[in-house]
Amino acid sequence: MTSCRPAWSDYIDTFHTHHPGITEDVLARCTDETGASPYAWLADGLEPDSQVLDLACGSGPTRALVAGSWVGVDYSSTELRGALERGRATLVRADVTNLPIRSGIADVVLCSMALMLIDPCSVVLDEIRRILTPAGELRALLPTTRPLTVSDRWNYLGLFTAARSRPRFPATPLRRNAAHTFTASGLVITSDQSQRFSYPIGTRTDVDRIIESWYRPGRRNGKAEPRRRRYVSPPVIGVPMRRIIARPTTQSSPPGNRTRRTIVLEPPERRSLPRDA
Ligand SMILES: C[S@@+](CC[C@H](N)C(=O)[O-])C[C@H]1O[C@@H](n2cnc3c(N)ncnc32)[C@H](O)[C@@H]1O
Repeated sequence: MTSCRPAWSDYIDTFHTHHPGITEDVLARCTDETGASPYAWLADGLEPDSQVLDLACGSGPTRALVAGSWVGVDYSSTELRGALERGRATLVRADVTNLPIRSGIADVVLCSMALMLIDPCSVVLDEIRRILTPAGELRALLPTTRPLTVSDRWNYLGLFTAARSRPRFPATPLRRNAAHTFTASGLVITSDQSQRFSYPIGTRTDVDRIIESWYRPGRRNGKAEPRRRRYVSPPVIGVPMRRIIARPTTQSSPPGNRTRRTIVLEPPERRSLPRDA
């Protein structure tokens, strides 16, 4: 695995083996003021006939939001099994930094909660640029730190104390230099927005779920945790999300003027050949 430092790569793989579907279990419960989830925000305005590829799809939460064809890609067999059990298909097991997919074929690439896992991020952005049609579009959902209310900030401090740790990611490449990073991969950002979603906390399980969804490499995956400190939970905690939409820098045809294509998966033996051979 070349996508992130070996220790992180192993950690993420093991994490998803022990917690399949955990990201969806948290984010699908989050809503904005209109009642939409972060996934609905990500897919908002997709053209119904788009060929959509969801990279690092996990349990496949975007499947139901796509009217056209959908292919989910992930390297975790446990996540893919979970996606299948939730009725989501078509699924491909692959590393998003080396996709078995022909160039220039995807109308839309969705990438939810994964760009911060690839270091450097340019490796996956280059792959995304390669597989997008000239008029294609990347939509990425990322964790961020704002907007949050003052109460949210206090509540997170309480959560971090209760969990004796806080979430971490292998890479945070898109904080300040997103435009530069995307441009270097031949993509131009057309929209970059952040929004606060509300995660309701009704029971102790809701608190446990949000803490369990965090990557905390200091904690041993799947092992019993030390007893959590007492936490007086608020009824709701804010979850800030960032949505980046980008297009290939040079567009040979305008958006909306797409010719119909089918996402063609290359058989494994072709993956070592030059991609456009
Ligand atoms: C935080 S989860 C997000 C899952 C899903 N997109 C969602 O939003 O619910 C990150 C996912 O990325 C996958 N992943 C991480 N690095 C990957 C890579 N290099 N290739 C393929 N999948 C990867 C993990 O297996 C995991 O399913």
